[in-house]
Amino acid sequence: MKLNIALLKGDGIGPEIVDSAVRVLEKIGEKFGHEFCFTPYLIGGIAIDTVGEPLPEETVNGCLRSDSVLLGAVGGPKWDNLPGNVRPEKALLGIRAAMELYTNLRPARLYAALKEDSPLRPDLVEKGFDIMIVRELTGGIYFGERGYREGKYGTEAYDTEQYSRMEIERIARAAFEAARVRNKKVTSIDKANVLETSRLWRKTVHEIAAEYPDVTVTDMLVDNAAMQLVRNPSQFDVIVTSNMFGDILSDEASQITGSIGMLPSASLGATKRGLYEPIHGSAPDIAGQNKANPIATVLSAAMMLRYAFALEEEALAIENAVNRVLDMGLRTADISHGEEALGTKEMTEAILAQI
Ligand code: IPM
Ligand code: MG
Repeated sequence: MKLNIALLKGDGIGPEIVDSAVRVLEKIGEKFGHEFCFTPYLIGGIAIDTVGEPLPEETVNGCLRSDSVLLGAVGGPKWDNLPGNVRPEKALLGIRAAMELYTNLRPARLYAALKEDSPLRPDLVEKGFDIMIVRELTGGIYFGERGYREGKYGTEAYDTEQYSRMEIERIARAAFEAARVRNKKVTSIDKANVLETSRLWRKTVHEIAAEYPDVTVTDMLVDNAAMQLVRNPSQFDVIVTSNMFGDILSDEASQITGSIGMLPSASLGATKRGLYEPIHGSAPDIAGQNKANPIATVLSAAMMLRYAFALEEEALAIENAVNRVLDMGLRTADISHGEEALGTKEMTEAILAQI
């Protein structure tokens, strides 16, 4: 296959970790006979500094023309005091919207080799867990009406949560499809005891559930879900939830794996093209120091091979290489316990050697 991949390296550790994933993809290309053609585009703070806006049109067009997109991370203290609509984070929302990437898949599973990193009780760690969070990504309060107005106590700011039936239907289908190839269990998380959007969410999810009689669906309120994730994570298979709840719960789920530096994600739309990125941020404190863990981005590249290109064997080659490296006891600083920590480049070399 010949595939064009847009690279959005972004800020902080973004360039280092994307470079690692590119090297891994090139190795896969050599081994399996694919040609990957990489084109970098500006996004985030670096785009603000270079061309004056976080998401240049050229970047959007480049991503739309490409077969898939690999993203590092955006943002950093340098741009933290800019107004909301020109912040680096706005670019992330902008590219998700422009590519209509309404489904965000965030797998959170415990790596056997990293069990001691989990903050959970040993008996829970022993049980293990493997959760797929399906987060709605282009709707809800992130994209609702917002602004300032005069209220009861003077000027007030507001953001609006809004969901249409269509938006809920399509994310529900994505969750049921995901569950079908896993353990056939969907937990739909909402706040239906308070929010109207959640009541529509719940009703619609159950309507779609009727199309998937082989999958069971359970509702859970988000506050309870936050608790259940640390109380008994093995009860979950697929979680489907709104944009903001998914943002929050996916960070919680990543932390119980012990290693946010390990978790990849895929953002998909109606087409399989998609955008792939680690779920962690730009870590400006360690940027440019060869300290970042490249594994989440490398695993995001594996997800790209699987979802965007249906290259299952190639995806597994990457995932198995990462597992072997961890089993060998190789660690970057974020996941090391006294073992000598490898740098970003050395960890990448170790993974390459196992492919
Ligand atoms: C994420 C991030 C983003 C989000 C921010 C940076 C806009 O937290 O991808 O989870 O909230 O979606
Ligand atoms: Mg987040």
